[in-house]
Amino acid sequence: PLVSSTPMLQEARANGYCIGAFNVHTLEMLQAVVEAAEETQSPLIIQSTVGTVKHLGPEYIAAAATVASNLSSVPIALHLDHCTDFDLIVRCIRAGYTSVMIDASKFPFEENVRQTLKVVEVAKAAGVNIEAELGKVGGVEDDIVVAEHEALMADPDECAKFVELTGVPTLAPAIGTAHGIYKGEPKIDFDRIKRIADKVDVPLVLHGGSGIPEEQVKRCVSLGMAKMNVATELRIVFSDAIKAVFAANPEENDPRSYMVPAKKALKEAAIEKMRLCGCIGKA
Ligand code: 13P
Ligand code: ZN
Ligand code: NA
Repeated sequence: PLVSSTPMLQEARANGYCIGAFNVHTLEMLQAVVEAAEETQSPLIIQSTVGTVKHLGPEYIAAAATVASNLSSVPIALHLDHCTDFDLIVRCIRAGYTSVMIDASKFPFEENVRQTLKVVEVAKAAGVNIEAELGKVGGVEDDIVVAEHEALMADPDECAKFVELTGVPTLAPAIGTAHGIYKGEPKIDFDRIKRIADKVDVPLVLHGGSGIPEEQVKRCVSLGMAKMNVATELRIVFSDAIKAVFAANPEENDPRSYMVPAKKALKEAAIEKMRLCGCIGKA
């Protein structure tokens, strides 16, 4: 069965490693990250954004993830990424999600606390993990668009206050990473991660995992980031592999053929991220 991500993330934070959380959009993408976890004996968080939940339906995603977890020897959690809608959060929990993000980061602090608290109350009772965001992560993730000048770093004192007021078990503080591929390198505020981690003992979540160089990922993990979200890079490797099949053979029309290299490429990309996270062999 799917498990809550709270214990696996607490374990990761306590032991200085990070768990890869991978956004998937199709059955084959889900299978690819599960194979990556199984082959490397890594704990796994499968996640879907609101756009994907609307595209496939939460029940289908939860059913596929549940089957995967039943067939796997590694712990697997299913997470709803960047949700702003309380009703959809409840629907996903009903469908079988074991972790949900309430993203009220666009609101002032007090309103973010209020909305997060409401989700914590229902999710905790269901044994489901909760993630909330403080500050604003830049870039584009589904319908959430934050321009560079609107991105906002999380304040360490507010992080401590937020966790105390909401009881949220995992926190995503904005520290300079962004959704999508970076122009150049991300400008990560490592000192801020340290100051947040000193005040907050819950596992911290690193958003915008695509395009962060190896050394920077490792530094974030050593400072307390216990979950790294990766979306864009995985979509790109998956799609590029399919494009390559059609470029070589425009007549190809069998998904059972053209999905095979795409799955393989995605699996390899996920394993590479797991290596950066340090979660290989931690299942
Ligand atoms: P990337 O698209 O940069 O990998 O960010 C993923 C993310 O933070 C999903 O919540
Ligand atoms: Zn994100
Ligand atoms: Na990114």
